Amino acid sequence: MSFSATARLVALGVHGEARAGRARDVPAATRRLAARATPAWLRSRTVEALLRRFEAWLLPGIAAHYVARKSVLWQAAQQAVAGGVERVVVLAPGCDGIGPALRELGVDVVEVVHPREARARAQLAAPEAPVARVIADLGAEADVVRRLADDPRPTLWIAEAVLMYLAPAAARALLRGARSATAPQTLLFTAMAPRADGSAGFGDASPWVARWLASVREPFRWALAPDALRRVLARAGFDVIDSANETASPEFCAGEAIYVARRNR
Ligand SMILES: C[S@@+](CC[C@H](N)C(=O)[O-])C[C@H]1O[C@@H](n2cnc3c(N)ncnc32)[C@H](O)[C@@H]1O
Repeated sequence: MSFSATARLVALGVHGEARAGRARDVPAATRRLAARATPAWLRSRTVEALLRRFEAWLLPGIAAHYVARKSVLWQAAQQAVAGGVERVVVLAPGCDGIGPALRELGVDVVEVVHPREARARAQLAAPEAPVARVIADLGAEADVVRRLADDPRPTLWIAEAVLMYLAPAAARALLRGARSATAPQTLLFTAMAPRADGSAGFGDASPWVARWLASVREPFRWALAPDALRRVLARAGFDVIDSANETASPEFCAGEAIYVARRNR
């Protein structure tokens, strides 16, 4: 088994931006993993130019969006570590390198990896700083988060581009699970907002994007407008303390926002 199609797509986008010199603010480990995850035949200049045309047609700016999202998450994660976080749990890392990059800073890191990606993730990340790994389907094993939350150290949870693939009940169970710990908990995650027609997706995406996501069995399942998201988080015991791209900003695609939340009691 290999990486999910969306994890590979993110790596392809990040690698293309890195080659163009536009990914300097993401961790070096993220650039290295993206390069390793991108097959050689996709790295030629001709294929890259073709991919840029596809991008412009399907979802303009999505590769830059991935990089902007990863830059914001990396900055926020470093701030959390400077603020006393001793342990990080990265949910669904795909081909990303924030876990190994944080390990290099000296914090303990656990990655929660889908069973179908376990082997590929271990191979891809093998040359990086070693992190612990738990293999679990977050849609079916909500208890895994509760078990991981059972740790006395202040913990940062990172869920980049994963909650939207879970059924709403599973996403809520996951948030409640993170709250069950006694130590301070910070959440750093991204979430989709509903489009004008109520569907979950990027604002400028062609209808082919949703068709493709369905065809690779990774449809978006969870989307909440910022106010509704804050209410769901508050019920799960968290307050939003910072956010990016709730209202569309130029370096991002509209539709996916980044949130930092802290346990409120
Ligand atoms: C769009 S990729 C994002 C990967 C990485 N977080 C990033 O932003 O580069 C979505 C990831 O979520 C994972 N995923 C989706 N549903 C999952 C589930 N139920 N349990 C665990 N992982 C899941 C996929 O396997 C994939 O690695």
